[in-house]
Amino acid sequence: HADDGYRLWLRYDPVADAARRAAYAGTISEIVIPESAPPVVASARDELVTGFRGLLGVEVPVVAQATRDNAVILATPRDPWIAAIISEADLREAGVEGYILRRIAHEGGHRTLIVANRPQGLLYGAFALLRHLQLGQPLEKLNLVSAPKIQRRLLNHWDDMNRHVERGYAGFSLWEWFYLPEIRSPRYRDYARALASLGLNGTVITNVNANAQILTAPYLAKVAALAQEFRPWGVRIYLTARFSAPIEIGGLKTADPLDPAVAAWWQDKVAEIYRAIPDFGGFLVKANSEGQPGPQDYKRTHADGANLLADALQPYNGIVMWRAFVYSPENNEDRVKQAVTEFGPLDGKFRQNVIVQIKNGPLDFMPREPFSPLFCAMPNTRLAAELQITQEYLGQSIDLAFLAPMWREVLDADTYANGKGTTIASVVDGSAKLQHPSVIAGVANTGTDRNWTGHLLAQANWYAFGRLAWDHQLASEKIADEWTRLTFGHDETVVSTINKMLLGSRETVVNYSMPLGLTHIMAEGHHYGPGPWVDLKGAGRPDWTSVYYHKAAADGIGFDRTATGSNALAQYAPEWQKLWGNLETCPENLLLWFHRVPWDHKMKSGRPLWDELCLRYQQGVDEVRALRRDWDSLKDRLDAERFTHVAQRLARQEKEAIHWRDACLLYFQQFSKRPLPAGVEPAA
Ligand code: GCU
Repeated sequence: HADDGYRLWLRYDPVADAARRAAYAGTISEIVIPESAPPVVASARDELVTGFRGLLGVEVPVVAQATRDNAVILATPRDPWIAAIISEADLREAGVEGYILRRIAHEGGHRTLIVANRPQGLLYGAFALLRHLQLGQPLEKLNLVSAPKIQRRLLNHWDDMNRHVERGYAGFSLWEWFYLPEIRSPRYRDYARALASLGLNGTVITNVNANAQILTAPYLAKVAALAQEFRPWGVRIYLTARFSAPIEIGGLKTADPLDPAVAAWWQDKVAEIYRAIPDFGGFLVKANSEGQPGPQDYKRTHADGANLLADALQPYNGIVMWRAFVYSPENNEDRVKQAVTEFGPLDGKFRQNVIVQIKNGPLDFMPREPFSPLFCAMPNTRLAAELQITQEYLGQSIDLAFLAPMWREVLDADTYANGKGTTIASVVDGSAKLQHPSVIAGVANTGTDRNWTGHLLAQANWYAFGRLAWDHQLASEKIADEWTRLTFGHDETVVSTINKMLLGSRETVVNYSMPLGLTHIMAEGHHYGPGPWVDLKGAGRPDWTSVYYHKAAADGIGFDRTATGSNALAQYAPEWQKLWGNLETCPENLLLWFHRVPWDHKMKSGRPLWDELCLRYQQGVDEVRALRRDWDSLKDRLDAERFTHVAQRLARQEKEAIHWRDACLLYFQQFSKRPLPAGVEPAA
């Protein structure tokens, strides 16, 4: 295999430690699966055969009945002997999609069991067993139960119908619309398999800004072909629904959600979709946001719009994910307040199969934002978290930014909505409030690049999203360590170096781009690199500019979101208001998000704000240099292809970091009128 990254974390290279390989091989003799296995179980079987072949170098036979010691047995509670071995409690814990892995003594020998209540769980169990081996863990005492905490774990593709990917940095869209349905890229299978390996069970394959074409009959036939490719991996398809579709492809004069003809059109359309795709998941909708049509065009509410689609989908158990990424054209209040203003009053008005999908922060996937206050403003509505895997504002596919630590910040954030401990994770998984259906979505970073994600190390973000979607308690360190070992093997120097690089990388991007709570000061349009000078001249709206956000002037910098300013702070629980509202207690990493601060304000370090700001930018540059040194130290331990791929990107990242530092400091210096402090390099 060329080391071009195509195999992702499913490399299945031979276990390097010969003793361990022999030990594994000695404890795996055959694979036992029920006869007439459904397709997902056949996928599990094939995956085990492929994995064992690669890892152990042996061809493990597949049989219908255990014939020898050390069999690996896939079983469900329908197998009568299971009840004697696996407790009711464990089966309950495994739930609908989870699995139990257990090594048991049996008739003087041993068996390895993969047990699940449903076929899908067997597939996830097979991947988990292979991961266990890839991670070099012992089989002897294997005994674990694992189940996803969130029901619908989805990628969101921002793929246009012409194969352009909005905010995509890894080539073109994977979906070859012109060739479908007859001609099917083998990549569809590989894609679905990668999702299944992480426990992701669905994918929205079209952009939130896509047109309505996807809902026409010829395209539904193409979608059905993709669904067929994904189905053996337990991956269901969802589509974006453009709200004006009844007009654009239905020939109606209106898309008014309260018009019976519109409701009838959606009912027919949904019936047509389910005829083609019986396991269709539902719709994702961006409405009345950034120019997209929506119910407000007819003076109706988001709830009216969402419920229209929800009613059409309900007979099939389909769901509507209605996005809360809104900021209305007429409303000029602080943009970060607008989602709560629009959606808060609609709490409780949505059907049970509607989930309001909220970006992690109230602005737009910035390198750091506080969590979105909408997570605590709708106690009677199902809420989903939307995270962005693709690095729109974090250096795209050039800069290294491992995002698990950022997502941990979000998932762990306490909304206090039901008292202390109401984390965003618990809101999203339904344990803090309403159950069913629970959804987490990640905007994909995939494309046609050989390595799927452009930057090889950005595969770690796809991996991290999938692992967190399954288990939002996983620590970033554990996710990084898993991914590094799966991708680069077990050389401890390589592992510890790459883990360290990954874990600090997001904070490094924050440091050289938007430190101390600065946001939205990137270049206009493409969003790569600095642009603190962007003002109204080029942009369509004041809140598409940088000056709106940083407000730098002679007297200071930052956005006052306390009571003396926009009072966005009031949308949070009193605990947060107290902490963030006070200049002295506000964590410095959100300082300029909540406060407008004089240049000479004394920071925790004792330095004035201006000096601190300069030093943060410098620190970001220094940290990228350290990343380069770390990577270079691995040169003799890595294959040349992957070494060079990453080395080139890190070299470019250093240039970009310097560009960010110089551009921002030169720009802000016009206002601060202060010299660069010692330790900060003059502009390149
Ligand atoms: C960002 C992004 C857009 C995207 C939008 C959304 O603003 O730049 O490309 O369409 O988010 O999430 O809808």
